[in-house]
Amino acid sequence: RRLAVFCSGTGSNFMAVHKAIAERRLQAEIVLCISNRSQCGAMEFARRKGIDTLHISEKQFNGQEEFARAMIQALEAYGIETILLAGYMRKIPAEVTVAYRGNILNIHPALLPKFGGEGMYGIHVHTAVLAAGEQQSGASVHFVDEEYDRGEILLQGTVPVMEGDTPETLAARVLECEHRIYPEALEKLLLRFRQ
Ligand code: GRF
Repeated sequence: RRLAVFCSGTGSNFMAVHKAIAERRLQAEIVLCISNRSQCGAMEFARRKGIDTLHISEKQFNGQEEFARAMIQALEAYGIETILLAGYMRKIPAEVTVAYRGNILNIHPALLPKFGGEGMYGIHVHTAVLAAGEQQSGASVHFVDEEYDRGEILLQGTVPVMEGDTPETLAARVLECEHRIYPEALEKLLLRFRQ
């Protein structure tokens, strides 16, 4: 299966999936890394691995339609079948989520449907989980639709909230969980296509 990853930051989820594809010989290949930040860690990693990169951001276009059209053209040019959002910090245009319905995943660092939605990203998520006094947190891989963090959940992993946790210590524990479940979620999706 031909995959594109969308990233904006370190790319640790991208790296975890890339490693799992190699080690578990998953019937998938990451052939394109798209980012709104050409110099982010994920794009550096892609270049090191010989994976094509595409820097694309709304700022380069006059309006959402042109931006969406350019994104779709790139995805079609690479024959992308499934999109993995992995630390991508921009909204995906509706044209793309509609065109790829059922084939676009995202990983969110909390147990959706709680602690999701616009504005709930990065450290804010863990701050909110601690403020709510949750005993556990975790990560969710879900299908992406036109609303933030609302699509069907494909796989979740849980981690305990520990005494004395700060948003940073919880974020680190959740990130490890993300690196475990994203590859598992991809395997689950690939199995669905085989049935
Ligand atoms: C992670 O917290 C993840 O939950 C979210 O983006 C953050 C950075 O991920 N999706 P990565 O290290 O760039 O994969």
